[in-house]
Amino acid sequence: MGNRRSKISVIGAGFVGSTCAHWAASKELGDVVLIDINGDAAAGRSLDLFESSPVEGFDSRLVGGSDYALTKDSDVVILTAGLPRKPGMSRDDLLATNAKIVKQCSQEVAKYSPNAVLIVVSNPLDAMCHVALAASGFPRERVIGMAGVLDSARFRSFIAMETETSVEDIQAFVFGGHGDTMVPMPRYVTVGGIPLTQLLSKEKIDALVDRTRKGGAEIVGLLKTGSAYYAPSASAVQMAEAIIRDKKRVLPCAVFLEGEYGVNGLYCGVLAKLGAKGLESVPLLELNDEEKQMFNQSASAVQELVDALKKLDY
Ligand code: LAC
Repeated sequence: MGNRRSKISVIGAGFVGSTCAHWAASKELGDVVLIDINGDAAAGRSLDLFESSPVEGFDSRLVGGSDYALTKDSDVVILTAGLPRKPGMSRDDLLATNAKIVKQCSQEVAKYSPNAVLIVVSNPLDAMCHVALAASGFPRERVIGMAGVLDSARFRSFIAMETETSVEDIQAFVFGGHGDTMVPMPRYVTVGGIPLTQLLSKEKIDALVDRTRKGGAEIVGLLKTGSAYYAPSASAVQMAEAIIRDKKRVLPCAVFLEGEYGVNGLYCGVLAKLGAKGLESVPLLELNDEEKQMFNQSASAVQELVDALKKLDY
């Protein structure tokens, strides 16, 4: 990344995309480009955000439009383009529409930024990672899905509420696909270092796990016209920060597994080390039989969706 400022492009200037630009700029991660098929909306949102910078005091240049030439030589690209779900829809209902959008966007991204790390946010997340991996031609190290950080953030929020403890002191992560079969890992949750299993009853923990699994739908049910965006965008930007600042953070992400956890050739949520190269390694966690079974079930659900994807013409 040399002496120049890092460059982050965000594809899709909807609620998730523009809020990504907001978090990234306010953290001064670098200059930010916002791309949308509605180029004026992307230009307007980035100009508006840039005009907040003298007040807020951040040095990030923001530009927007519909032309991918603006994204040239990005270090990180956050792909949010696609339709969000409406109440009653599952993330999987978005498969055909979003596959087409994600394919086109990934090809454009790869054309202008052949060395970028691509963070996929569009739903259904794990399947869209497969589309982006194929369409970009990037190695798995540079196509990583955002879902685990979000699902874990929800889990951590609910644990913080229940235990009346600072969110900062809650360590927790979620494995598996970004769907109803996701696998929150209560055995590894700590509150200020104390295992959660020593603080709450099994019934209470089960309720937190259940609310986490349905966390996305809870927000869709309330918003009615779209899905969550503050927590999804904050999560994508945390991954971008880990990469841009080469932090080597260990975060739950959707990774193209090549034999890890007994899964081969499939995106699934696991712990991943993120640094300047993108995915730097997949540190392995020991799962017990129950966790293994839930993880395999979740991987099968992702596999079903990927198989459905293969039958589509997009
Ligand atoms: C959610 C959507 C964005 O979980 O997948 O809120």
